[in-house]
Amino acid sequence: MLIVKRSEQLGKLLSAHHSRFKSVGLVPTMGALHSGHLSLLNRCKNECDVTVASIFVNPTQFNNKEDFEKYPVTLEDDIYTLERNGCDVLYLPELKDMYPDERYKSGHFNLGLLGILFEGKYRPGIFQGVCQAVKRLLQIINPSIIYAGQKDYQQCLVIKKLLKIMQSKTYMVICETVREPDGLAMSSRNIRLTKDDRKKAPALYHALHIINSGGEQGNPEDTKCRAISILQSAEFKIDYVEIADAQTLEPIKEWNKGDKTVALIAASINNIRLIDNIIING
Ligand code: PAJ
Repeated sequence: MLIVKRSEQLGKLLSAHHSRFKSVGLVPTMGALHSGHLSLLNRCKNECDVTVASIFVNPTQFNNKEDFEKYPVTLEDDIYTLERNGCDVLYLPELKDMYPDERYKSGHFNLGLLGILFEGKYRPGIFQGVCQAVKRLLQIINPSIIYAGQKDYQQCLVIKKLLKIMQSKTYMVICETVREPDGLAMSSRNIRLTKDDRKKAPALYHALHIINSGGEQGNPEDTKCRAISILQSAEFKIDYVEIADAQTLEPIKEWNKGDKTVALIAASINNIRLIDNIIING
């Protein structure tokens, strides 16, 4: 695996592949890699001639300094894992390579409701930051396909919108959420859970499961209440439990049989904030 730290060098390296019409796949990450990330990498390897992963803990998508500073960094393990899993190129930029000047960090993207609902409400600016980082990666790497995880459902919709805004030819593939055997969605933040909290954390998935198994019966508000009480019993502090249109993320007031909806949850235990979602009627 080649480790490239400079965008110029990466651009040159990849232009040779582009000119030979080889497909280049991009798996953007912030590191602390787990099986969720690897499922994206494996899918990319199966579908593309060249697999590029990036690791960059993007400061512009953190609205909380402490969250940024405490973001787990396991670089040596990550490099080993990527190499062992057949990644071809790792782009490992420093801040000044990702954002050579202020313009790159201050770009504004017209995301509409997607930018301000749910994660956008509780972590203001997050998706502007995600777009800044992903736009830069797309410009440097110009991938045929970008891989993203359903675990961050709203982020997937945001990246889709970014591709549209950029009139990009890059295609996006969304990979299913990879879970621990007890249902907890894999996340780099899980390692910060205490042993006790780790035992309670699958309540998030159980709550989603309850919503999904309701079979679009009754009032969505009642369904949400059942999910909320599961989370409260596990001592979660809830940011939101919502059932929304799967494309626009507008919350639904009643079930419309056949419409694709998504149930989304964000909640914390002892200040460790977890998110998860499930597509209903997908
Ligand atoms: P990060 O949280 O490292 O996630 C990188 C990719 O892995 C994202 O597309 C995310 O949805 C996916 N992923 C994380 N956990 C997963 C799981 N359990 N199952 C399947 N996929 C999973 O998301 C980011 O980084 C950043 O916002 C980034 C897109 C890199 C921009 O900075």
